Amino acid sequence: MNPAADSPRLLSVESVNVSYGDAPALWDLTLHVDEGELVSVVGPNGAGKTTLINTIMRLLPVRSGRIVLRGEDVTRMTATQMCNRDVSIVPEGRLLFGQMTVEENLDIGAYRALARTRRAETMERVYGLFPILKERRWQLAGTLSGGQQQMVAFGRALMAHPKLLLIDEPSLGLAPSVVEQVFQAIHEIHRSGVSILLIEQNAVRALEAASRAYVLEGGRIATEGNPRTLMAQPAIRAAYLGEAVHP
Ligand SMILES: Nc1ncnc2c1ncn2[C@@H]1O[C@H](COP(=O)(O)OP(=O)(O)O)[C@@H](O)[C@H]1O
Ligand SMILES: [Mg+2]
Repeated sequence: MNPAADSPRLLSVESVNVSYGDAPALWDLTLHVDEGELVSVVGPNGAGKTTLINTIMRLLPVRSGRIVLRGEDVTRMTATQMCNRDVSIVPEGRLLFGQMTVEENLDIGAYRALARTRRAETMERVYGLFPILKERRWQLAGTLSGGQQQMVAFGRALMAHPKLLLIDEPSLGLAPSVVEQVFQAIHEIHRSGVSILLIEQNAVRALEAASRAYVLEGGRIATEGNPRTLMAQPAIRAAYLGEAVHP
């Protein structure tokens, strides 16, 4: 083994085009996530954020371009194959099974063989991260608060033992105190060695959390870079941080 030959590049999306029928949603989109990074993609409603994350998870077909995971071309793979390559998603709207208990929802995340063998240990880890879920483990997921449902969605993704976690709008519709808890969990997951691609409309929180960021507008990357530099740009402040621009 030659360690110098190991690329830190975990994921690269290379000139990817995605359409819904004839309507293009992503245009020549290029971005990457290196091992250990927490990368944010921010952008307004309808920019293509969910399309991007669902494309990476291989839930949508790629019209042209490539997706590469640890040097392997995964453009034509399925979501199950992505899961087996240590990629998990916390989807927009959580997509829980409301008529199943918290623990049953978590179990669904432990579907693959590797995860099943470590099920009990991982579940304790999830309950350590979100103690309220342990108290409510026999409760039907549909009867939980929005914040608790988001915690279940995170827990389910973690049950699969991801190395790359794709998170779509985790703060959507949550009270500020719950948003705080969710972002603390994101940091804890990141510290435990999971690389993260975080998609958010809440640009302030997402940029504060990230080591690198992209701004997505109209299906295209409008700008990218260090989150602090981005936050200092007047156009970004005006568009995403709700500040008036003074000429
Ligand atoms: N299933 C779909 N069928 C057709 N168009 C869609 C579908 N999902 C999203 N779109 C369109 O693609 C664009 C990007 O949507 P989306 O990825 O959901 O944006 P975001 O997550 O940034 O709000 C929007 O113009 C949206 O209307
Ligand atoms: Mg979305």
